[in-house]
Amino acid sequence: MNVLLLGSGGRECAIAWKLAQSAKCDQLYIAPGNAGTSAYGQNVAIGVNEFDKIAQFATEKHIDMIVVGPEDPLVNGISDFFADRPGAPKVIGPSKAAAQLEGSKDFAKGFMSRHGIPTARYQSFTAAEYDEACRFLESLQAPYVLKADGLAAGKGVLIIAEDPAEKEDALTRAKRELKAMLDGMFGAASATVVIEEFMSGIECSVFVLTDGEGHYKILPVAKDYKRIGEGDTGLNTGGMGNCSPVPFADDTFMQKVEERIVRPTIEGLKSDGLRYKGFIFLGLIRMDRDIQQYHAGDPMVIEYNVRMGDPETEVVMPRIKSDLLDLLEGVADGTLNQKTLEVDPRTAVTVVLVSGGYPGSYQKGKVMSGLDNALFTQGTVDPAHNAEHSILFHAGTALDAEGRTVTAGGRVICVTSYGNDRNEALAQSMRGAQIIDFEGKYYRRDIGKDLNNF
Ligand code: AMP
Ligand code: GLY
Repeated sequence: MNVLLLGSGGRECAIAWKLAQSAKCDQLYIAPGNAGTSAYGQNVAIGVNEFDKIAQFATEKHIDMIVVGPEDPLVNGISDFFADRPGAPKVIGPSKAAAQLEGSKDFAKGFMSRHGIPTARYQSFTAAEYDEACRFLESLQAPYVLKADGLAAGKGVLIIAEDPAEKEDALTRAKRELKAMLDGMFGAASATVVIEEFMSGIECSVFVLTDGEGHYKILPVAKDYKRIGEGDTGLNTGGMGNCSPVPFADDTFMQKVEERIVRPTIEGLKSDGLRYKGFIFLGLIRMDRDIQQYHAGDPMVIEYNVRMGDPETEVVMPRIKSDLLDLLEGVADGTLNQKTLEVDPRTAVTVVLVSGGYPGSYQKGKVMSGLDNALFTQGTVDPAHNAEHSILFHAGTALDAEGRTVTAGGRVICVTSYGNDRNEALAQSMRGAQIIDFEGKYYRRDIGKDLNNF
C-alpha cells in the first residue's frame, strides 16, 4: 500500500516510524512532515488543509490510504472530501460531522448526555444569554470551568479557583472571565461558552480505534504531563511528556471505561449516523470523590478528540506490537474485528525537549547536536535492540540550508525509551535528554514519577 500521512509533529513522526515497519507499506509520504519523518518516508511540501493539492498528489502517487494526524483537516471535512470520489484513497479519520466531537464542546457534551456517558453536568451560553449564564454559575461551586465551544489551539479552557486559596471572589472572577470569553477572548471559538461542573481526580488518555461498523480496539493507555514545570506546576503546554501503561488504569477501571464510555460512544456514533473510521481520543478522569451517581475511582469523560494525542502517540505507538497498517486496513474496510492487537508489556516513557521560553515566546533555528549518537535507534525495529535504546521522535525540527537539524518549534524533540518499569524508562530517556543539545533546551525530569504512589 502507498500511504500519505498528514501532519508535522512528534505524533506524526511516531506514526511514520510505526507505519514504515509495516510489511504492507510500500511508499510512505508525509505532508508536510519534519526533519525526523524524512527518515521513514518522503516529506512532501503540502499543507494538511490543502485538500485539492492532496488529491492531486494522491492521484499522481497512487496513494491507497491517507492517515490524518491533526484535528484541523478532519474538522474541515477531509474525510467527506474524499469519501464520494471514485477511486479515491481511504481516509483514516472521522467525517466532518463526527469531528464535531472535538470541534465543538457543546456538540460533544450533547452527544454524551444523549448517550448516558459519564461527564460533568453542563450548560452552554451565547453572549445574549450572559445573565442566564451567571445564574448557572451561581448554582455551581468553585472551581468554575469555562470552555470555549470551538477549537482554540488547546487554550480555550479556563478553570477558576482550582487552588482553594483563590476561592475568594471566585464567582466574580468567573463572571468577568465568562464575559471576556463571550466578547471574543478566543475569537469565534468562544462565541458559545460551555460552563461545567468541576471534576476532581487524576487524568489519563485512552485511545480507541474504530472501523465505523461497531468494531473497536482499545490501544495502550497513556498519561500526559501538560504543565511546563516539574510537579505539574506553571503554564499549560502541548504536553511535556507521557508514559504508558498507567497503573491506576487497571482491569477494574478499564472494564468501566469500556462498558460506560467506549461502547456507548461507538453505539452512539452509529445511532446518530456519524461516520467514524479512525482514532478516538478519550480524555478521562478517574474521580477521587463521588459525583452525580458515580463513585470515587470511576472514570468520567473530560473531552473527546478525534485524533491521536501528542505526545501520547510517542508512547502508544512504541507499545503496539502489531502491524499498524494492517489494523488501519481493518479500520478502512470495516473488518477491524478480524485483526489482532498485540501490546508490548514494557513501559514506555517519552520526555519532550522544548525551546527556552515555551509555552511563551521562544527562538527557532537553534542548531541541534547529539542526534547521531549510537544511543538512538532511529527506527530500528528489532525489539531486543530497542530494549537498550531510545527512539527519537522529532516534533519541531527542520533542516537548514546547510543540512543541519535546527529547532523549528516550541516542542522540539521527544525521547522515548522502553523499560521494565517507569523509573527505568525515565532514566534511559534522561540520558538521551542530556546528550541532545541546543541553546535554551528545557525538559521535565519527573515524567511518570507521581504514579509511583499508585
Ligand atoms: P480540555 O481542553 O477539555 O481537555 O481541557 C483542558 C484541561 O482542563 C483538561 O485536561 C483538564 O485538566 C481540565 N478540565 C477540563 N474540564 C474539566 C472539568 N470539568 N473538571 C476538571 N478539570 C477539567
Ligand atoms: N496531549 C494532549 C493532546 O494531544 O491533546
